[in-house]
Amino acid sequence: MGDQAKLSAGETVTNFPVLKGSVGPDVIDIRKLYGQTGMFTFDPGFTSTGSCESALTYIDGEEGILLHRGYPIGQLAEQSSFMEVSYLLLNGELPGKGELDEFSSTITRHTMVHEQLLQFYRGFRRDAHPMAVMCGVVGALSAFYHDSTDIADPEHRKISSHRLIAKMPTLAAAAYKYSIGQPFLYPDNSLSYTGNFLRMTFGVPAEEYELHPAVEQAMDRIFILHADHEQNASTSTVRLAGSSGANPFACVAAGIACLWGPAHGGANEAALNMLREIGTPDKIPHFIERAKDKNDPFRLMGFGHRVYKNYDPRATVMQKTVREVFDALKVTNPVFETALRLEELALNDEYFIEKKLFPNVDFYSGIILSAIGFPTTMFTVLFALARTVGWVAQWNEMISDPAQKIGRPRQLYTGPVKRDYTPIGKR
Ligand code: ACO
Repeated sequence: MGDQAKLSAGETVTNFPVLKGSVGPDVIDIRKLYGQTGMFTFDPGFTSTGSCESALTYIDGEEGILLHRGYPIGQLAEQSSFMEVSYLLLNGELPGKGELDEFSSTITRHTMVHEQLLQFYRGFRRDAHPMAVMCGVVGALSAFYHDSTDIADPEHRKISSHRLIAKMPTLAAAAYKYSIGQPFLYPDNSLSYTGNFLRMTFGVPAEEYELHPAVEQAMDRIFILHADHEQNASTSTVRLAGSSGANPFACVAAGIACLWGPAHGGANEAALNMLREIGTPDKIPHFIERAKDKNDPFRLMGFGHRVYKNYDPRATVMQKTVREVFDALKVTNPVFETALRLEELALNDEYFIEKKLFPNVDFYSGIILSAIGFPTTMFTVLFALARTVGWVAQWNEMISDPAQKIGRPRQLYTGPVKRDYTPIGKR
């Protein structure tokens, strides 16, 4: 018998198995808790609850470590490509050259969307938030690709996963084009995944689009940095939706809806707005004092993280990438200088040191996305585009797991106990 955890409640003492992962904290397996004790656990926000077994992504928040299938995010961001990381997340191992070529070619050949789906955009107001449009059109994919929605068939699951990864750039670019009143551009199969997305977003039919290699590389890296992040809110949403047997297009639409929230995908927009509001480095001390003031609701956006109590490893890469893009485009940006100075001052401030508040991935990503030319409303759309591979990889892992059950949390009921209905005239 392996390690056991003892729970003593009232007169009863019950043992529960302790499970060990390949790395990271042990977990107490409480699946039999209700059966053996008649009690549930109470853990809103799931701060102490593992919802699944997963071999995809590992985070050590104390040490600031993020691994995909064992590979550190820094190495992947520096040396790999988004297509390669996508293959890795989906298949578990890095691809050989032939495998990567074949995978990239398959994804490239799924980038077009059904022509009728493009008609959907015209039903939206031009000023609709692109995330509202994305929730709609991604969910609508299930109305077009009936030949890949049998989730019990591994081949269907594979094709729908490829379709989702491939079509997201086309749908995201179309959401942007619609909002600014420009025509949609069809994909160009001669370009890379990321180059194709940039062209569909910023190109126009009237002229050749000139792809800037530094921008293409930076965008690809940003996609890598957002590809997966274990059981975060939107991924858990995709898994929960999928646990009922819903098709993957519908599940990813649910993930997009969850990602839209300001506490999740919307923080980089808030961080950029904050940096713009601060304006010049001489105003930073005032804002740091406000962030420390318990009576002031202001927080340093892009600082702190539920899991990372150290430098977010994605922020390290992001900061370096901002520099590379600015150098390549030969631009300077006072907001970046303000961000660097703010980081320096905060990291030397007792309040931030003591609370282990470090820059997170969102601190620098807004600066770079805005320099590339994206409006703030598109920031979360880009996150959704990149996270789609994580969502489908996690969804596939869940469906292939024989222990998978419909997700159905329990509750602590605090409402009225049973009472009799009173007819309306007697109330
Ligand atoms: N500025 C100032 N103080 C902060 C900040 C901040 N950015 N973040 C946390 N604190 C303080 C809190 O006031 C609290 O202080 P207290 O213990 O004296 O009450 C303490 O640090 C702990 O904060 P919590 O909110 O309890 O920590 P939690 O883990 O729940 O929150 C969160 C994490 C939501 C990310 C928080 O740090 C925050 O609001 N940051 C700013 C928003 C942000 O950047 N979000 C992006 C997250 S990354 C992502 O989603 C991809």
